[in-house]
Amino acid sequence: MTSSTATLPAPAAALLATITATRGADEITTRRTSAAALAAALAANAAAWTDLVEYRPQSRWTHLLEPAAAAAALDPALHDDLAAAQVWLLSWLPGQGTPLHDHGGSAGAFAVVQGTLAELTVTDTGDGGVRDAEARLTAGRVRPFGPHHVHQVTNTGAHPAISVHVYTPRLTVMNTYRIGTRGLLRTGTERAGVDW
Ligand SMILES: [Fe+2]
Repeated sequence: MTSSTATLPAPAAALLATITATRGADEITTRRTSAAALAAALAANAAAWTDLVEYRPQSRWTHLLEPAAAAAALDPALHDDLAAAQVWLLSWLPGQGTPLHDHGGSAGAFAVVQGTLAELTVTDTGDGGVRDAEARLTAGRVRPFGPHHVHQVTNTGAHPAISVHVYTPRLTVMNTYRIGTRGLLRTGTERAGVDW
């Protein structure tokens, strides 16, 4: 593989030169595996961890998968990336779901391993309104999200669902919201792993 940009189309070469100048070549070549890639890999290797999954009629089941356990399901080369992230396993019986929430500034991704989850994403437009979008996420889908993502996830299907969630940096809190007359209104803050 060549390191020259001479063979790239001019716009691509110019973009790469700009990125390299802005971020530095080392950062590009040493960038960590993304949360989406880790979630997809954990979903693809779900057989290594689905024995842990439980279903709780009272509320969703959640389980913090320690980095060593997550790494055991994946390529050893991903150990360092997993140590810098946080992995949660979730199960959802039909009808179970989250309130509208964010991730306390963490970005990440989740992958649906079994069943179907419905995601409602709500964005504050900044002028007192909101914009929403709905997605139906079937098994195999991976949903990346940024640090300001506000969503509600529900199992609207007829069968139990399982998903794996990767957060970077580690998730410590999530804020809950409702849609008010002047946009999103924060209704509370919940500590990770305690209230959900
Ligand atoms: Fe979430």
